Amino acid sequence: MNRRRIDRRVPAMATSDGAGVSMHRAIGTPALENLDPFLMLDYFGSDNPDEYIAGFPDHPHRGFITLTYMLDGHMRHEDSMGNQGDLGPGGVQWMKAASGVIHSEMPRQSDGRMRGFQLWINLPAAEKMSDPAYQEFSADAVPVVETDGATIAVISGSVGKVVGPVQDDITDLTYIDVSLTAGATFAQQLPGEVSAFVFMFEGEGFVDKAALHEKHLGVLTSGDSLTLTAGDNGARFVLVSGRSIREPIAQHGPFVMNTREELMQAVDDYQQGTFVRSRAAVNRSA
Ligand code: CO
Repeated sequence: MNRRRIDRRVPAMATSDGAGVSMHRAIGTPALENLDPFLMLDYFGSDNPDEYIAGFPDHPHRGFITLTYMLDGHMRHEDSMGNQGDLGPGGVQWMKAASGVIHSEMPRQSDGRMRGFQLWINLPAAEKMSDPAYQEFSADAVPVVETDGATIAVISGSVGKVVGPVQDDITDLTYIDVSLTAGATFAQQLPGEVSAFVFMFEGEGFVDKAALHEKHLGVLTSGDSLTLTAGDNGARFVLVSGRSIREPIAQHGPFVMNTREELMQAVDDYQQGTFVRSRAAVNRSA
């Protein structure tokens, strides 16, 4: 058994995006440009409506997948595929933009707390111009595993025999939300070939003797399992893993392709109004 350790610890960077939404960015910064196949990880969250109310009005995506996981609050989603979603606490939306999606993500509340994550997952060249696809699940469709001191929401991949609802075979994605009471230990198998990270968003935890503090991302070494022990105030983190793509990345904002020519094509298509090519296959919980 070869345990994964923390290879690098990266503090998330305070920033804002969309029409002025405050957030912490953990992947997609000068400190961690990407973590193949992951291009970006945003942790948005505030109790102050001024910091989220402007939302993310209509904008395009091409060449990758977005996965949005809500912790608190409600976000309304509308897109060029014809989807309308209401993402509430514990809900998840997986959107394979691929050849092109235009969508908006707007708060459905004017006060209270809004908090969640958006992860961008790259697509291999063969999938970049494929048809979009969409999966959306409310919290009831996300299974929760309870073990000694641990509460684990399984969004994608598996914990023991429990399988999460989001299917992402392209990336072989694992995405779980783990809450640990003080001093509790969590262990998970993580096959050697996938890249993996932990993002600590409440409390702190230890992998061997290395501490991971709040709003820090730990890039994991290769190995086949992870063991993490919570600190004195408990810990809550997401553990995410996926297969690396190992292709050149050409990125211009929300367009992520392999070459500069493909980026210019994306900009041109968007300006010409020919960006959206296909409606999506949709899978959602009732
Ligand atoms: Co978007």
